[in-house]
Amino acid sequence: LENGLARTPPMGFNNWNTTHCTATFNEAMVKGVADTFVSAGLRDAGYRYVNIDDCWAEKTRDAAGNLVPQHTRFPHGIKAVADYVHAKGLKFGLYTSAGTKTCNGADGFPGGLDHEQQDANLFASWGVDYLKYDNCNNQGVDAQVRYKRMRDALQATGRPIAYSICEWGRSDPKVWTWGEPVGNLWRTTGDISDTWSSMIGKAHANDDLARYAGPGHWNDPDMLEVGNGGMTDTEYRTHFSLWAVMAAPLLIGSDIRTASAATLAILTNTDVIAVDQDVLGAQATVVSSSAGLVVYSKPLANGDRAVALLNETGASATVSTTAAAVGLGGASSYTLKDLWSKASRGTTGTISATVPSHGTVLYRVSKGQLTPPPAGTSQLSALSW
Ligand code: GLA
Repeated sequence: LENGLARTPPMGFNNWNTTHCTATFNEAMVKGVADTFVSAGLRDAGYRYVNIDDCWAEKTRDAAGNLVPQHTRFPHGIKAVADYVHAKGLKFGLYTSAGTKTCNGADGFPGGLDHEQQDANLFASWGVDYLKYDNCNNQGVDAQVRYKRMRDALQATGRPIAYSICEWGRSDPKVWTWGEPVGNLWRTTGDISDTWSSMIGKAHANDDLARYAGPGHWNDPDMLEVGNGGMTDTEYRTHFSLWAVMAAPLLIGSDIRTASAATLAILTNTDVIAVDQDVLGAQATVVSSSAGLVVYSKPLANGDRAVALLNETGASATVSTTAAAVGLGGASSYTLKDLWSKASRGTTGTISATVPSHGTVLYRVSKGQLTPPPAGTSQLSALSW
């Protein structure tokens, strides 16, 4: 959507993957997350949106038809929370559904269908910067009709509000074929869960969708599970690496107030974030895939490529490709920077690594010699480390 927003994939937080609808989702949590964005360096790493998900509202609208913040979770209302988030130099996001009710439970909470402009106006008056618009209880109304109505309602408020279509690629025609002029991002899959098989399945669902992504309009394979405890740190590094090469939104889904050092190290790896946030806005394509060994290549604005070597098998394996195969042929030497270990080395064209089971080696590949030689080393010897 050309609304000037999400020129790179949105980065932030959403509470759903860690709290779902439990009582831990409340004002204190959201404020604490905003505090942690600042204190743990997440804001400095590029994370901006503090987004809240389903279950923030009372089950009935007020006499004027307005949505009402759930009084025990948000005793001071939503605007007070948005104000707090804004005061930290961050942006605030909210959730509702393009249906008569939201997604949580049969009785659910009121949704936006047939209330689009009233709800958009209320959200804008609260200072909302991002809306995730879900797909439940849609009464069979055509998805494009429903999602365009809220797009137009948001635009009519005059407030810049990033617009996240949460349709999951459920109906035909698929959302990625019509999403570009409608939303800033669209879910391409059902809900992620905190397991290797779920995460890797969401990644592969995006494998063939690169042509639909670009500045202002992104494929969304769902929010991050990094730090939620169901995967190993190796698997979480794969998760973060794949979301980065896919130019996916990076919405943290764990409780960062209590994050481990290992979780924070993954989430604040600025080299990997730079791959995700590259201004060219290209999503990686699959270079090769054989027996669980997969190579992805993402073109970057300065001519480099981000190359992910993924090992989905149960044992350590060598994953290989070449500079020519990833689209970087024609040079006599290349530099490979490993974005997790930070080590750089030269190559004449082979791109290869021993990758642990469920691991990913993520290289930034440049033509020629990228890094200055260590002090006291001649150009020639530095080229052949
Ligand atoms: C759907 C969405 C999830 C989450 C829940 C909330 O399942 O896909 O991301 O927002 O609804 O109920």
